[in-house]
Amino acid sequence: MSTTLAIANQKGGVAKTTTVASLGAALAESGHSVLLVDLDPQACLTFSLGIDPEDLETSVHHVLTKGLDAREAIIPTDDGVHLLPATIELARAEADLLTRTGREHVVKSALEQLEDDGAGYDWVLLDCPPSLGVLTVAALTAARAVVVPLQCETLSHRGVGQLLDTVHDVRRFTNRKLEVWGVLPTLYDGRTNHARTVLETISDAYDLDVIEPPIPKSIKFAEAPAVGRSILSTSRSHKGAQAYRDVAANLVKRAGSR
Ligand SMILES: Nc1ncnc2c1ncn2[C@@H]1O[C@H](COP(=O)(O)OP(=O)(O)O)[C@@H](O)[C@H]1O
Ligand SMILES: [Mg+2]
Repeated sequence: MSTTLAIANQKGGVAKTTTVASLGAALAESGHSVLLVDLDPQACLTFSLGIDPEDLETSVHHVLTKGLDAREAIIPTDDGVHLLPATIELARAEADLLTRTGREHVVKSALEQLEDDGAGYDWVLLDCPPSLGVLTVAALTAARAVVVPLQCETLSHRGVGQLLDTVHDVRRFTNRKLEVWGVLPTLYDGRTNHARTVLETISDAYDLDVIEPPIPKSIKFAEAPAVGRSILSTSRSHKGAQAYRDVAANLVKRAGSR
């Protein structure tokens, strides 16, 4: 059975997409089959894995709104993971879904269909858009757990309460068992006391676990998407790549201990 994680935070630029690409590559490296789902109409995950959305005939939008079998849209990538890509059409899907019955369940049904067809994955990582709209709620509804990437700077906590309110609603109405695995500190500069203080404040205030280790801030992360790979292939032994491998190992442990 697969473990589905939603990587969510309605704030942009906190490394959701980078986390999905890098964790996915780390899980694949350690022998897991991995599906990444791009749920952001900006299609940054799709781009960063070397795929030009303009070249695609089918994408996640067809799967969510037109009932296309996900297998028809999934593509293998050079990073060893499979991708259900997005295009800008997904922006329209968000609007289309608003008036649909069962819209919260569209991601979940697509993934269940894959499993029913014997085409499931060990891990499915959902790259959420920077909003708490239909697509994020659908991701939370499909997920076993949510991981919240967080840049440890002042005021970064302001969105966390809202996200947790959404998680509570999802638990009440569409996914009773949704777990919160915690915050993942990203773009982390451990040399400053500031980053550490912010992290402690947030995890205390919201009673959230901190997923270890923090992901260091490095220019290497900006270089990888330009060549369509994750940092795990472009800078194999960089401490940023190693941090994602360690996070992946910790998540694998967590998934196994229900
Ligand atoms: N650990 C890091 N160090 C430095 N830059 C990073 C790091 N992680 C991500 N970035 C950069 O920060 C920007 C935003 O990251 P991204 O993953 O797109 O965030 P989100 O999906 O939350 O909007 C990108 O330019 C990315 O390359
Ligand atoms: Mg993103």
